[in-house]
Order: sequence, then structure tokens, then C-alpha cells
Amino acid sequence: MSMPAPAPAPMLSVDDLSVVIDTPEGPARVLDRASLAVGAGEIVGLVGESGCGKSTLVKAILGVLPPNARMPEGRMLFEGRDLLALDEAALAREVRGRRIGFIPQDPALALNPMFTVGTQLLEIWRWHAPENAPDRSRAAGRARLIDLFRRVQIPDPEQALARYPHQFSGGQRQRVLIAAALLCGPRLIVADEPTTALDVTTQQQILSLLAELARDFALSVLFVTHDFGVVSQLCSHVTVMYAGQTVETGTKRAVLAAPRHPYSAALVACHPDRMADLAGIPGSVPSPLAPPSGCRFHPRCPEARPGCAARPTRLVALAGDPPHALNCIMADAPGPAGALP
Ligand SMILES: Nc1ncnc2c1ncn2[C@@H]1O[C@H](COP(=O)(O)OP(=O)(O)OP(=O)(O)O)[C@@H](O)[C@H]1O
Ligand code: SF4
Ligand SMILES: [Mg+2]
Repeated sequence: MSMPAPAPAPMLSVDDLSVVIDTPEGPARVLDRASLAVGAGEIVGLVGESGCGKSTLVKAILGVLPPNARMPEGRMLFEGRDLLALDEAALAREVRGRRIGFIPQDPALALNPMFTVGTQLLEIWRWHAPENAPDRSRAAGRARLIDLFRRVQIPDPEQALARYPHQFSGGQRQRVLIAAALLCGPRLIVADEPTTALDVTTQQQILSLLAELARDFALSVLFVTHDFGVVSQLCSHVTVMYAGQTVETGTKRAVLAAPRHPYSAALVACHPDRMADLAGIPGSVPSPLAPPSGCRFHPRCPEARPGCAARPTRLVALAGDPPHALNCIMADAPGPAGALP
């Protein structure tokens, strides 16, 4: 009898990653054994309310945490390489900007107003052009940029290279940054709320562009957002975070249509479109300086029971298809006693 082929390893996996930031008020455990996976060709939405640790997780993946941050436990693998074992020089040279492209939240802050976009983007090419690129010259970088500008629909690409950031609209600047993220041929794009600084129409155009580029360049995308509407439009998978812990993950269909964690269920039920206001869930998000023990949602959870305050945080895979995993005591003991809601 032939055995089923093992599932391919995800392109990016983060397992049980904790981040502690040393602040004047004491250590803040802003990520508590968070886990995340992005497979080839997947667009994974990372959702959770403000302060839950989304940007911290992104910074950890990119290797740009502040100097007062530590990672006392966890593992991060990208294309089979252990990101935590790479030193800063190797991360900067071989991973960030080359294999992983980043699209920031606010295009106005990401570009230097003193230099033309061509000068700034060709500097990225100078540092990160892949060693196996047929031609690593400045002229080759310029030609690639002009192609990419055309691809992200920046009018008059050759002239655009000679313009300064303030000579572009907000939406056009975000297109410039998308081209910058694609410049060195990455396999994964990480985007931290890249449309929140834009008006609604421009947001829609950028989301459509990203979906198209992900498909055409066969990219994986990790997309941070507050907005379930965006997840529903763009993503194939979703991971929900609460107070530094990952609480539920799976395909978009599994998580949005049938959320199993009490927190994500409440979010989806209260705020089908936007999750900026969580008034529907009594209580407030705890500070990472003094978080609740065990499941950090337990002081607010309508399903809380003895054991939740001591339960070590971990995602448990649920049986069945499509893939779906839950970080909740109710997933620990399936069957009549621990029946899931
Ligand atoms: N450099 C820092 N020093 C101290 N605390 C920090 C620092 N960076 C982040 N934090 C804290 O870590 C927690 C997570 O912050 P983070 O920026 O990752 O959240 P987020 O989910 O990205 O929020 P938002 O949706 O508002 O962008 C917050 O409580 C924040 O105050
Ligand atoms: S572990 Fe307990 S408190 Fe946490 S979500 Fe599950 S039932 Fe609620
Ligand atoms: Mg953030």
C-alpha cells in the first residue's frame, strides 16, 4: 500500500515564537509562542486588533526588531533556512529585500524626500540584486525597474524614475514601493497594512494589483490587516492574533465561514466587514506588561473554564479538510467532554 506523500514544508514557518521587549516599565512579552505558516502561492491574512503584535511578528520575520527586543524561544524557517541562526549581514544580503520583499504601511514615510525614486530604488538593486541575475549592472537594474513600473501601472515609467516622492500621489507612491519590493525577484512579499493610508478607491486598486502580481509572479504573500473585508477579497488563508498569541489559523473558507475560537468567532459575528471597534466583546485588550496567564483571552471569554488560565498556548490542528488549527482548551480534548462550539 502506498503511503500518501508528506505535505511540502511551507515557504515560511514561525513556530512558538516569543518576543520580549525591555521597556522602562519592565519586560513586555509582546509575542507569546506565536505560530504562522505561509505556503507557496498562498496569500495569508494576519489579522487582529491594534497592539496584538502583528507588526512585531513581521519585524521578527524581517530581522528588524528594535535593539531592546529579545526572542527567548521559537523557530523561524524560510525556504528551509533557519532565520534565527543567520547574522544581520547574511539576513540583509541574502534574505531581506532579495528573497522577501516588504511593502510598508505608509508610502509617504518609506521614501526619502531628498532623492529621486530612481536613485533610491537603484540603491536597493545595488545591494540586493541576486547573484544569479544575468546582469547586475545599474543599467540592468534600471531596465528592470522600468518594466516593473509599467507592470504596476505607473504612467511614463522612464520619466517617473527622475521624479521625487512628493511628485507622486499616495496611490502612485504605493505602486513605486510595490515595484521596489519586487525588484530583486522575491518569493515572499510581506505587506504591513499597505492600504490603510489610502482612500477607499485607491485601496481597491492596490488590492487588485497585489492579487494580480501574486498570481502572475507566483508569489506568496503575508498581508497584515485589520479588515476582514480585505481578507475575504484577497487572501487564501488567515491567521488571527489576540494579545500576542495566535488563536486560530486555516484557510479563509474554514476560518471566516466557521470560526472556532471564541475570539475570532466574536470578531466575525460582530464585525463582518471591519474589526476596528471591538465593543461587541466585553473587557479590553491586556497590556503585554502584565498579560493574563495561560490563554490570554480567558478574562473576556464567554466559554472560559477551569484550566484556561493555566493552559500553555499552542495551536492544535483540527481533524478534517480544509486545514484549520485552534489555540483553545476546547481543541485539546475532542469528543463529548470537550466538544467544540
Ligand atoms: N519598541 C517597543 N517598545 C515597547 N513596546 C512596544 C514596542 N513595539 C511594540 N510594542 C508593544 O508591543 C505590542 C504589539 O505592538 P505591534 O506594533 O506589534 O502591534 P500591531 O498588532 O501591529 O498593532 P497596530 O494594528 O496598531 O499596528 C503593543 O502593546 C505595543 O505597545
Ligand atoms: S482556552 Fe478557554 S479562555 Fe481561551 S479561548 Fe478557549 S475556552 Fe476561551
Ligand atoms: Mg502594526
